[in-house]
Amino acid sequence: MLDMPAIRNDLKTVYDLAPNPDLAAHMQAEYARMSRVISPADWAIHAPYVAAINALKRERNAAILAHNYMTPEIFHGIADVVGDSLQLAIEATKTSADVIVQCGVHFMAETSKILNPAKTVLMPDMDAGCSLAESITPEGIAQMRARYPGAPVVSYVNTTAAVKAASDICCTSANAVQIIRALEAETIIMTPDQYLAQNVAALVPEKRIVWWEGSCIVHEQYTAQDIRDFRDWNPGTRIIAHPECPPDVVAEADFSGSTAGILDYVSRERPARAMLVTECSMASNISDAHPDVEFIGPCNMCPYMKKITLEKVLWCLHTMTTQIEVEAEIAAKARLAVQRMIDLSAQKA
Ligand code: 13P
Ligand code: SF4
Repeated sequence: MLDMPAIRNDLKTVYDLAPNPDLAAHMQAEYARMSRVISPADWAIHAPYVAAINALKRERNAAILAHNYMTPEIFHGIADVVGDSLQLAIEATKTSADVIVQCGVHFMAETSKILNPAKTVLMPDMDAGCSLAESITPEGIAQMRARYPGAPVVSYVNTTAAVKAASDICCTSANAVQIIRALEAETIIMTPDQYLAQNVAALVPEKRIVWWEGSCIVHEQYTAQDIRDFRDWNPGTRIIAHPECPPDVVAEADFSGSTAGILDYVSRERPARAMLVTECSMASNISDAHPDVEFIGPCNMCPYMKKITLEKVLWCLHTMTTQIEVEAEIAAKARLAVQRMIDLSAQKA
């Protein structure tokens, strides 16, 4: 675990990180992207960190890849690339930066390293895990292969490098249906998200999909009754659910898609009111770009995603720690599974 008091003291000896309304006023371009969700007083607190991180990024030739669930000051203030898991994996193959800072969870940083073995990939907090990635090991994959001989294994990117290496191909929530349809086998093993697997199975009835019993601690909390109660309380609200939600929740929703799919849907449809059945920061991050859409509803936080803060990003760029390492043999096998996914999604796009 990071020793935050010590880190804070060290940072203060090098950077002036006191709240700074004057600096905040000079950084209006950055603030304009988040002014509906961050108050001027909070911006004065964030601005010195944002300025210091952006200066260090240039010094180190670093790129920050940030997931859609990062807090708005990270998402809008310091990220070079934002997106869902698929977009971040694709962008990781394209960056010319020497250093990648992954603002997201550990499996995302590992994916960037797998795709860029020669680059330095930094993770601001190694404890930013994922309940899905923690639910399965290579032994679990071997058990599934023994139970369903000959069935290919499609692993969600929310897995460790070792699990990816033991899989035939990866998928994300954005391309899972395409990947499953493209495989010739009739029986397909999907790991580790039971709900993503069940949601895909409903859309691809011609395949027999078997799954591992993992789940996301954020999305599994929603129930179909919650959605029905919400509709009664707020009729006319467009309900948009991530496919990591249980199938009866997805069935009650107006649309289901990856975090990038959710953003596309909102941009296209511009509903007057929307409830995003996903992680809390998603609505905050797209709120300024959609002032005509009122986002209402629950706010479930991912405790892993929320471990990433401006302070930790500054620390990791300042000290160039902590670096992601993936053992070469595992990385080579995992790269095949991830690259197959990227190639197949490009064909289908
Ligand atoms: P997306 O690929 O849709 O961004 O999902 C990643 C994730 O962890 C959702 O919980
Ligand atoms: Fe994992 Fe769920 Fe958090 Fe996404 S939201 S990182 S799936 S625990």
